Amino acid sequence: MYKLKEIAENICYVGVNDRQKGLFENLWPLPYGVSYNSYLILDEKTVLMDTVDVCYSDIFLKKISDALKGRPLDYLVVNHMEPDHAGSIRLLRQQYPDVQIVGNSKTFGMIQGYHNITSGLHEVKEGDTLSIGSRNLAFYMAPMVHWPEVMVTYDTKEKILFSADAFGTFGTLDGGIIDTDMNTDHYWEEMIRYYSNIVGKYGNPVQKALEKISALEIRTICSTHGPVWREHVQKAISIYDKLSRYDADEGVVIIYGTMYGNTEQMAETVASALSANGIKNIVMHNVCKSPASYILKDVFKYKGVIIGSPTYSSQLYPDIESVLSKIQVRDIKSRIYGYFGSFTWAGAAVKKLAAFGETMKWDVVGEPVEQKQGINPDTYAQCWSLGEAVAKRLKEEA
Ligand code: FEO
Repeated sequence: MYKLKEIAENICYVGVNDRQKGLFENLWPLPYGVSYNSYLILDEKTVLMDTVDVCYSDIFLKKISDALKGRPLDYLVVNHMEPDHAGSIRLLRQQYPDVQIVGNSKTFGMIQGYHNITSGLHEVKEGDTLSIGSRNLAFYMAPMVHWPEVMVTYDTKEKILFSADAFGTFGTLDGGIIDTDMNTDHYWEEMIRYYSNIVGKYGNPVQKALEKISALEIRTICSTHGPVWREHVQKAISIYDKLSRYDADEGVVIIYGTMYGNTEQMAETVASALSANGIKNIVMHNVCKSPASYILKDVFKYKGVIIGSPTYSSQLYPDIESVLSKIQVRDIKSRIYGYFGSFTWAGAAVKKLAAFGETMKWDVVGEPVEQKQGINPDTYAQCWSLGEAVAKRLKEEA
């Protein structure tokens, strides 16, 4: 029944779209949904690359059955064990009991833990190859991109890299599968958000994986999320390279909490000063309204980060504390940092924001501003100076 898209000769797309989940990993908003990509190679041997979230196993198994047209399924390659890709392994094995599961030793520990599967396993190590007829598949380990068992698989004939989460993006595949067949505009921002939310902690492992695959000729990237990259192979690689080096564009993200608008007035003043001093990319996040997912995206995107918080029960404002911990987990490096805070009877926020900057080893620029109660001519001038100083430093670094 299914007319499955061929992404190369005898390789068809059997993945699915998820427009139903509100949150990926029950954390990250999915306004454009997400795809779980899987690919079936029909050579002398038949090989499936990864599976899909178990919620979509029914349609997934039907697509595979249609594509196989009665042939057996010889191999399942498991590049990544996170359940958005590995969730259907047990059902697939029930339908195809003779399928050999290809993975590494770490994969197999997880398959046992999640699916209680301990037999029919074909272990591969770094650089191993598997002949499946007219082509070989080569396997390269990519630990911590994004879990420890992750590997990538390279089709030596078609020069296709099956890259697991690497080069993935949020966003469903709305009819088209390959980037040459679609308008890709909205995927690039979603790619940054996906990277910062999901892979962001693992910059060094991503750099190591990029170095490893730089030895391969890659004509097509088949990630587990988002479009198949053919026209934009280099663009996808360069975005992942930039983000994993924590390199960023000129611009400032202002993250602030506010209860009654007093800290917000400080944020507004800083933003006006940044603009008056030539900064065009300024993104303001009221931490109670902006999901952390989007704040993280912008902290990865821009070189300047300015954080403002009221003092709340002698602590940082709770939602500021929450977003700071998410930034800290990702160990985002080399940011120009300014901070400010307010209090009514006893200040604590500014001290805690100073400690955060030290933990991150960020470059503190300008004088921090601490405001008692409402904004006044002095604190207005201090906030203006803070914005001015950050803008000046950004321009010096440009
Ligand atoms: Fe898309 Fe780390 O799983």
